[in-house]
Amino acid sequence: MNDNLHQLRCFGCGARVAGTEAKPDFRCALCGDLFEVEYPGWGLRGGNDRPNAGALKWLWRERRSSSEALDHSGVWRFRELLPILDNFENAVTLFEGNTPLYHLPRTSKALGIDQLFAKHQGMNPTGSFKDTGMTAAMSVARERGFTWVACASTGNTSAAMAAYAARAGLRSLVVIPDGKIAWGKLAQAMDYGAVTCQIKADFDGCVRVLTQVVKEAHIYLLNSVNPYRLEGQKTPAFEIAEALDWNVPDHLIVPGGNLANSSALGKGFRELRELGLVARLPRISVVQAAGANPLVRSLTANRGATLEPVEAHTRATAIRIGNPASWRKAVRIIQDTGGWCLDVTEAEIAIAKAELGAEGLGCEPASAVTLAGLKKLRADGSVSPGETVILILTGHTLKDSEYTIDFHRGTLLKDEETVGLEGKIERLRRNAVAVEATPAAVLAELKGKVG
Ligand code: F0G
Repeated sequence: MNDNLHQLRCFGCGARVAGTEAKPDFRCALCGDLFEVEYPGWGLRGGNDRPNAGALKWLWRERRSSSEALDHSGVWRFRELLPILDNFENAVTLFEGNTPLYHLPRTSKALGIDQLFAKHQGMNPTGSFKDTGMTAAMSVARERGFTWVACASTGNTSAAMAAYAARAGLRSLVVIPDGKIAWGKLAQAMDYGAVTCQIKADFDGCVRVLTQVVKEAHIYLLNSVNPYRLEGQKTPAFEIAEALDWNVPDHLIVPGGNLANSSALGKGFRELRELGLVARLPRISVVQAAGANPLVRSLTANRGATLEPVEAHTRATAIRIGNPASWRKAVRIIQDTGGWCLDVTEAEIAIAKAELGAEGLGCEPASAVTLAGLKKLRADGSVSPGETVILILTGHTLKDSEYTIDFHRGTLLKDEETVGLEGKIERLRRNAVAVEATPAAVLAELKGKVG
C-alpha cells in the first residue's frame, strides 16, 4: 500500500522537491530556507486525495476504541492527515499523544477568564511534546533505511529521539550544551542508549556543529528543521479541536524556543480549516523568556522582517535559544492569526510555574511561560473574559526538579529579580521542613492549619 501523498515546499521561495530529495540539513538548495510538508491532492474541493471531513471525524473517534496498535497513538490515529510514509507499518510509536486537556479553575478565577485550559504535552511517553514530532520523523528515518539519527538539543528533543531510535533499532547521536540541560533529560538520553556529546557551546553552537556532521556522515537529522517533525507536532491541534467538538479555542499560547512548535500547531489548525473540519483559526501567541527573546525583538524592531540572534540566558533551559531556526514560520503564524509575541522575566516564569503546581499540574519552567504571558495579556486587555484560552504545557515537571526545589528553597532567584514580587513568591513557596520523628512534631507543623 502506498499512503505517501506528500512533497516538500520551501517556506522562503516556494520551490518544491520530493521528500527524498531534501539535503541532509533540510535547507532549500535555492534559497537556504526551511521546508514544509504539503499534500497537493487536498487542494481541489473534489480532489481525489482530499479526505472527507465527516468520515474522518467518525473514523478518528472509532479508533479510540480500536485494538490496533497504531490507533493507540494520538498521532497516527489521525494518519489520514499525515500521509508521509509509503507504508504505515513502518511507523515507530510509543503510543504518544492523546494528552489531557485540563481545566484550570483557580487560575481561571484569578484571571477572570471562564474557559482556561492546559493541554499537557508533558504527559507524553518521554515527558515532552517532542514525542509527537519524533514518532513521525523517526518513522520516515526508518522507512528510508537510515541506521543513524542525530539532533542538537536543549534536552527534550534528545530524550525523545534517543527513545524512538531505541524502539526503531537505530543508533542515535545527541549533541548538547555542556552543563546547560536539566539532569532528567540527560539521564533519559543515556538510558535510551544515545551517543551523547556534551560540547562547550550553547544550543546554537551545537546546531552549527551538528549541521556539519550530517553533511559529512550518513546520519538523518532530527532537529525541527526536519519538516516531518512538524507533521507529528501538528496533531495536538486535532486533539484540541476534537475535544471541543470541532470548534477551535479563541486563543492558543505556546512557549517559543527554536520556534517550530507554534507553526506546527498553526499548520494543524490550517489544515483542519482547509478540509472543512473547523471553521476558523485560533489566535496563536508565542511567549519567550526575556533573556532569550530574539523573536520579540525582531517583531518590535521590524515586524519580523529580519532576526538578530542574541546570546541567550534563562533558567528555563529548554528555551535558552538565541538563533531560532524556524523564526520565519513563527512570524507568519503569529501575524496570520492576529496573535502576540511577548516575553516574561525569570521571576514571572517561576511564579507561574508554582501557580500551575498549586492547580495540581506540574510542568517545566519553559512551559510556564505560557501562563506568565497570559497574565500579561489579560492585564493589558488583549485577552477578554469570554475567551476560550488554551496554554500548551510542553514538558513534564520531573524533567527539571532541581529548578523546582531551588524555587521552594528560595535559592532560585536573586533579590534583584524579585523586587515587588517577594510577597507573592513567599505565599507560593513550600519548602520541606526537617522535624523530629514523632507524631507530636508533625502535628505541631499542622497547628492552626487543620480544622
Ligand atoms: N518547551 C519545551 C519543554 C522545550 O523543550 C522546547 C524546545 C520548547 C518549549 C520550545 O519549542 O523550539 O518548538 O519553539 N526544546 C528543544 C529541545 C529546542 O532541544 O528539546 P520550540
